[in-house]
Amino acid sequence: MKLALPRLRTAALALLFAAGLMAAGADPLAPTATWSAYTAGRAATPPMGWSSWNAFGTDIDEHKVLGAAQSLVDQGLAAKGYRYINIDDGWWLQRRLSDGMLIIRTERFPSTQQANGTPSFRSFTDRLHAMGLKAGIYTDLGRNSCSQAYSPDDTDLPKGSVLEREVGLYGHTQQDIALFFETWGFDYIKVDGCGLRAFGADAEKVRSGKYRELKPALDMDSVARSDIAAVQQQFRDIHNALVKSNPDGDFVLSLCVWGAGNVRAWGKDFGNLSRTSDDITPSWSRMLTNFDSAAKRAFYAHPGSWNDPDMLFIGKGEFDAKHLTEARSHFSLWAMLNAPLFIGMDMRKAPESLVELLGNRELIALNQDAAGHQATLAYDSHDVQILVKTLSSGDKAVAIFNRTAAPADVELQAAHLKLRADADVELLDLWSGQQRRLRGQMKLKLAAHETLVFKARGTRVLADGLYLSEQPGNVNPAVDGVVQPMPDPTLHRSAKGWQGTRGSGERPIYAGWGGVQADSAPYGEALSLNGKRYETGIGSLANSRLEVRNHGYRRFSATVGVNDSARDAASTATFAVYGDGKLLATSRALKWGDSGEPITADVSGVKLIELVVRATTPDAAALPVTWADAALLAK
Ligand code: GAL
Repeated sequence: MKLALPRLRTAALALLFAAGLMAAGADPLAPTATWSAYTAGRAATPPMGWSSWNAFGTDIDEHKVLGAAQSLVDQGLAAKGYRYINIDDGWWLQRRLSDGMLIIRTERFPSTQQANGTPSFRSFTDRLHAMGLKAGIYTDLGRNSCSQAYSPDDTDLPKGSVLEREVGLYGHTQQDIALFFETWGFDYIKVDGCGLRAFGADAEKVRSGKYRELKPALDMDSVARSDIAAVQQQFRDIHNALVKSNPDGDFVLSLCVWGAGNVRAWGKDFGNLSRTSDDITPSWSRMLTNFDSAAKRAFYAHPGSWNDPDMLFIGKGEFDAKHLTEARSHFSLWAMLNAPLFIGMDMRKAPESLVELLGNRELIALNQDAAGHQATLAYDSHDVQILVKTLSSGDKAVAIFNRTAAPADVELQAAHLKLRADADVELLDLWSGQQRRLRGQMKLKLAAHETLVFKARGTRVLADGLYLSEQPGNVNPAVDGVVQPMPDPTLHRSAKGWQGTRGSGERPIYAGWGGVQADSAPYGEALSLNGKRYETGIGSLANSRLEVRNHGYRRFSATVGVNDSARDAASTATFAVYGDGKLLATSRALKWGDSGEPITADVSGVKLIELVVRATTPDAAALPVTWADAALLAK
């Protein structure tokens, strides 16, 4: 017999189910008064450096890696911030079965040889440290690595028996992390996930007996077939091991599960940087895919938890010295997104023009700006995009990006920058060094694939505060209301991946569709309440909780309501503002067609504001709600 639950309880349960919360038992919308995104480790600004992967694949050795390090120092790039020298896949020979010790390929890294027969990277990392640099190492969540998964003919793969070739973290997390950080002295770890993706029972390499089966917990094509909780638990264990091995907190944790398993929504809670897509290649089209995977995820990145659209491919293919326009665009976009900046070319042979490009101080300064606000899209189309980033000085950076292979005419408006149209805006072109002035608007001509980047100073539309959509680095969607993660269909789908045109093409695979957006409703629609358009605000789904760090502002204000884009005209939602856990303001229950309701709260002295929207009717999943004109004000 079914139990007849009281109506209210049923509704509450429906909400809990909707938020996927029954297992945890807690109400995820309840204020916590704490910032929950990742802040451990050392990544207050996006990490910068060099990685061996795009330059050499698994064909690495000590000369190449130390050569890169020496070049960065000699070329002045290390002094400009490129500090981490990261060894990617290919360094390992095997795991010693007697004690689980990882053995390095000593013929490639001769300095790791030791009298006792057990190789160590310690003198190698000592050398990097003595050069004023930091050292990074690479591993995998599973038993095996990505090259073992996808490059069966690679002569640089680990050698030995099935068990000896199991070089990944699986079952060895504590031991390996202690080895990397305590014994060997590394400072940075990239954790890949192919071992959790490619070794299912039906894989040829498993059936043939070459590798042991590990039931896949990550499926690129299906969030539902990914075991997200298991993957998260592994990252938690890795974090705990890192904290234990690094009492001074000097580590960086890089998550590399390529946008799978809905990681674009939760990577920010588990590591310092998190890959938002599969691998970049040195092609314009593929670069667009990787850029798109992070470009609309500004709220999912903050100081300490950055979106990673993958390493730079400047120096190769369509980004080599013969393609300076494309190389500059690639660099400009990564700078605006606060992407980690990892050079991926053989720096010993780097042409002067590219050393200069990578050393552009102004662009680096945008990327490393202390406020940590990823750029948001002020104008969006498949042809041209305008990205705007708020800097800690209060100035803006704006990038005008021509995605197409034809020249483009663009009108840049002061309004794109949230600057007043009736006052001058001073612009500094960060590639040419030219100064320009804009009043109201300005016409620009862009070459094919060109990106112009300006630093801009003008008069703010909002004189005494900052819109929340201008400060995504201070806003964390702790719960974004997405209940059934769906792939974002708007990402560029490239025919220039490693797969080429084999198969049926890249399908939408990167979950995150419907996430929290700046100046836009969750699915890219306009912010609009009862027919009134808002150019500024935050678009979210109901049953969401946003954490907002307050740096000294006194008042929060917004106009709230159910967005006109809602397909569901009956459901209602209430909006609440909390300050350090205490309720400060609420709205009445609002539904589609209601005019926006002003909401304001005194936040003087409050450190953490939480913006909570609760659907007050069951079955209200995916109800788009709007915090229009949401701002923190000085008075
Ligand atoms: C991929 C990863 C690349 C690189 C490669 C090494 O999974 O995305 O960045 O690390 O593995 O095999």
